[in-house]
Amino acid sequence: MGHRDFLAITDLSREEIQTIFSRARLHQESGPETVLAGRSVVLLFEKASTRTRISFEVGVARMGGHPIVLTPAGSQIARGEPLQDTARVLSGYCDCIVMRTYGHERIQEMARWADVPVINALTDLLHPCQVLADCFTLQSRFGSLEGKRVAWIGDGNNMANSWINAASLLDFELALACPAGYEPDAGIMDAARAGGAKITLVRDPAEAAQGALAVNTDVWASMGQEEEATLRMKAFRDYTVTEALMDRAAGDAVFMHCLPAHRGEEVTEEVLESARSIIWEQAKNRLYVQEAVMAFLLQQ
Ligand code: CP
Ligand code: NVA
Repeated sequence: MGHRDFLAITDLSREEIQTIFSRARLHQESGPETVLAGRSVVLLFEKASTRTRISFEVGVARMGGHPIVLTPAGSQIARGEPLQDTARVLSGYCDCIVMRTYGHERIQEMARWADVPVINALTDLLHPCQVLADCFTLQSRFGSLEGKRVAWIGDGNNMANSWINAASLLDFELALACPAGYEPDAGIMDAARAGGAKITLVRDPAEAAQGALAVNTDVWASMGQEEEATLRMKAFRDYTVTEALMDRAAGDAVFMHCLPAHRGEEVTEEVLESARSIIWEQAKNRLYVQEAVMAFLLQQ
């Protein structure tokens, strides 16, 4: 009891985000704190992952802890053991649970029953670890994001929803361009706007990219939406991030993508491999920011 979870960026305050960023910077520059010595962290992945899984696994090891990767197929989860039971059993052995799953209610259920911090490693609704790391990457490059403009082009998916949450706490303007029927979660947008966040939603990618400091996109069909891929290809065909679109953004604007990317779909090869692309820096910073999140949650 008394622990904190990280299921959404809005679980943190403005001050806590900056505390985590300072710690991440320390990990980046001087190496990690060994606050996980003698502790174990379960990494429960119900969907595929390269970056998140490896950055958490390496991060736990770098901090002196023991990472344990669990997949449904290799555990009793695929055989129907309820999450409420799994949560309590894992809490008896481990100090933190990192979970990637489908419905957001599954991670909420895990957090409800676990006695240790639960970290959201992606759900259908949110991807807070990625967006927190992306904001760290942008802040490292441009300084405070307050009053700056960030563009989101494409699907109003888990990444877009987390960017909306981030805009409400880091005070940047978020301009999203999404096709009809693929808008972000209305409840998340309403809550952010009610809290004073400056969120604009348009159809035209050029309008969203105008003057932005960063242009972001993501795949058109997320994990779990594979069957909709053909339909989505049609709906999103005018939403490819091209050099021409990047030229609408600010002169020193960067291109961002959480990866994996589909070249020639949501972004051209030219933009992805251009000097404006900061995708490898984004991926690398996952390690430092997630280490800082674990240090923060486990030292409460
Ligand atoms: N960006 C991201 O979360 O990548 P993985 O799916 O490889 O973890
Ligand atoms: N929106 C993508 C992000 C992958 C990191 C997905 O959910 O598949």
